[in-house]
Amino acid sequence: MDRIRIVGGRPLSGTIPISGAKNATLPLMIASLLTGETLVLDNVPRLADVGLLQRILGNHGVDVMVGGKRAGETADHGQTLHISAAHIVDTTAPYELVSKMRASFWVIAPLVARMGEARVSMPGGCAIGTRPVDLLIMAIERLGAKIDIEGGYVIAQAPHGLKGGEIVFPKVTVGGTHTAIMAAALANGTTVIENAAREPEIADVADCLNKMGARISGAGTSRIVVEGVARLGGARHNVLPDRIETGTYAMAVAMAGGDVLLQNARPELLQAALEVLQMAGAAVVSSNQGIRIARNGSALAPVEVTTAPFPAFPTDLQAQLMALMTRANGTSCIVETIFENRFMHVQELVRLGARIQLEGEKATIEGVERLQGAPVMATDLRASVSLVIAALAAEGETIVNRVYHLDRGFERLEDKLGRCGATIERLAG
Ligand code: UD1
Repeated sequence: MDRIRIVGGRPLSGTIPISGAKNATLPLMIASLLTGETLVLDNVPRLADVGLLQRILGNHGVDVMVGGKRAGETADHGQTLHISAAHIVDTTAPYELVSKMRASFWVIAPLVARMGEARVSMPGGCAIGTRPVDLLIMAIERLGAKIDIEGGYVIAQAPHGLKGGEIVFPKVTVGGTHTAIMAAALANGTTVIENAAREPEIADVADCLNKMGARISGAGTSRIVVEGVARLGGARHNVLPDRIETGTYAMAVAMAGGDVLLQNARPELLQAALEVLQMAGAAVVSSNQGIRIARNGSALAPVEVTTAPFPAFPTDLQAQLMALMTRANGTSCIVETIFENRFMHVQELVRLGARIQLEGEKATIEGVERLQGAPVMATDLRASVSLVIAALAAEGETIVNRVYHLDRGFERLEDKLGRCGATIERLAG
């Protein structure tokens, strides 16, 4: 297993190119199941999760072709995928695959909408809590699918197709909203989705579906209306930039100090996080090239933050912010309201010298003057990257173990940080 070695204390300066968003790429790839024609996706990040979903879709008979390099293209350009689900050969998504990546459960919606049936393994627990799928099942049931649960599998059937209906989510869910939109796109009649998730990736997927011939309005707001169509066609779509990667590197610069342009980043995708960074003492300047983050010499101020659905501060940046606050000049407070048990990074940050107290969903972080490098490991991808951020400001050497978590969601992390002056290397294991 690979590890990452970091020696802290170096400021960052230069440019970090921001990749396409993982959390848009995954549902966009899954949306390819809705059509027999080719879907072309540009700006796709090179991530382990993308490769895994390619295998999962392959199991259903989907062909995924990765476009070759064009003249002048570097690793900083995303890849292009040509995805064709002309022949769906299997409507079962087995446990061995679904248990490796929760989002693969979402194939249930396009499969039942287009093929009239789907048999998808329940994802099971994961490192950040129970993460149930009851609301995803409710959504397709509301559109007329008959649901059975047998041997750990959800079996959805709609032999005569799905029918439009009203879906009211009792809780905001990103996966639930993606599922509802994909199912409704091919349903007979109109679907209204209330209390929909407003994350930018929802609007990105809806844009792509509309290019494929869907009739979706209101994506990006909490009320989405989908007029079902009989069939969808091919399209070409450019994946939006990754706001979580953007926020992560912004926190890394705030932590290490320096001045970095986050190229292609879009400020409207992470306004809440940028405001928090400014309150903490970082300078944030947006331009048509991206977002510039700088902190030169000033101390970090403590902040109080509560995670909540978009447009509020994202749970996917909670661990990174906590790492940053370990060095603040005072006491910060972070409340996690989305996932229980998403504090796996706390004990590892403490190993580096942080002072953090946990009480239910609330973490109190008392800033310290110095962190000290140590061997650490983490059990999910956002937690892993928070340890990298802490290590950038720690004295001496930190070894981050279990790097495969990072590879799921961060493209060439050590390369991007290394090019800005960080002492960071991958140790092949
Ligand atoms: C997506 C993101 C993930 C992010 C999360 C919250 C992708 C691939 N993943 O995950 O990075 O952290 O949104 O922004 O886009 N819930 C239920 N029942 C359900 C579904 C969800 O109770 O059927 C609960 C969850 O336990 C959680 C909350 O709803 O407490 C939000 O989860 P959800 O938005 O669905 O997260 P994901 O779509 O899995």
